Amino acid sequence: MARVTTPPIDPLLRDRRSPSVFDPTHTLDDSQLASLLEAARWSPSWGNTQPWRFLVGRRGDASHARIVAALSRGNRQWAPAASAILIGLRQVGAEPDDPKGGLRTYDYTAYDLGQSAAHLSVQAVSMGLAVHQFGGFDHDAIAAGFAVPPQWEVLSGIAVGRWLPSAERTTDSPDVDQANVEREERPRKRRPLDQLAFAERFGEPLRVGHGE
Ligand SMILES: Cc1cc2nc3c(=O)[nH]c(=O)nc-3n(C[C@H](O)[C@H](O)[C@H](O)COP(=O)(O)O)c2cc1C
Repeated sequence: MARVTTPPIDPLLRDRRSPSVFDPTHTLDDSQLASLLEAARWSPSWGNTQPWRFLVGRRGDASHARIVAALSRGNRQWAPAASAILIGLRQVGAEPDDPKGGLRTYDYTAYDLGQSAAHLSVQAVSMGLAVHQFGGFDHDAIAAGFAVPPQWEVLSGIAVGRWLPSAERTTDSPDVDQANVEREERPRKRRPLDQLAFAERFGEPLRVGHGE
């Protein structure tokens, strides 16, 4: 019998993982893409300012090609096979046409972008899709290539598509890089809960059990 080592969590969160082998034949239709973005849209943000935007490329279109050209060498091995790649932007300065000078604080905009990405990720799992986020790409090339205004910072990438499980891979599966296959097979690890949640003072573990 399998040993239960962690407290139960919702299957949508339990089953989320960042695959490195995406199905290069899968495509995202408009309604799927709209649902993913809608999930991000309904995430909470500081003062409901929604200080994030996404640049979106679907495999085969010009935006996708521009994003792929900016990927780091490592990420270029797996991300292009995903059905879409989104680049997340966060606001870091006032809009020129905003008489009030923009948001009162930009301190939480990275948090807000991350949270919108988390919502998008869970929505993706609910749709049988997977997300792999990444930071390894040429941020300046994206900013220039997409004419991103200076009050917006290019921060993170989100590859979304259908995971290609090993049972479905054949020796002639396109774009399947062995290093990525091995990476997927490595055990996924997390810090135990007692290193993550404290009581009374920093470092004093909150005792709730589990978390191995
Ligand atoms: C902000 C951020 C940046 C990341 N950058 C990369 C990256 O450049 N390349 C990559 O392969 N994975 C990247 N990842 C994925 C993480 O390595 C991955 O989420 C982590 O290893 C945990 O694995 P899991 O998502 O399967 O649980 C990034 C994730 C986040 C949230």
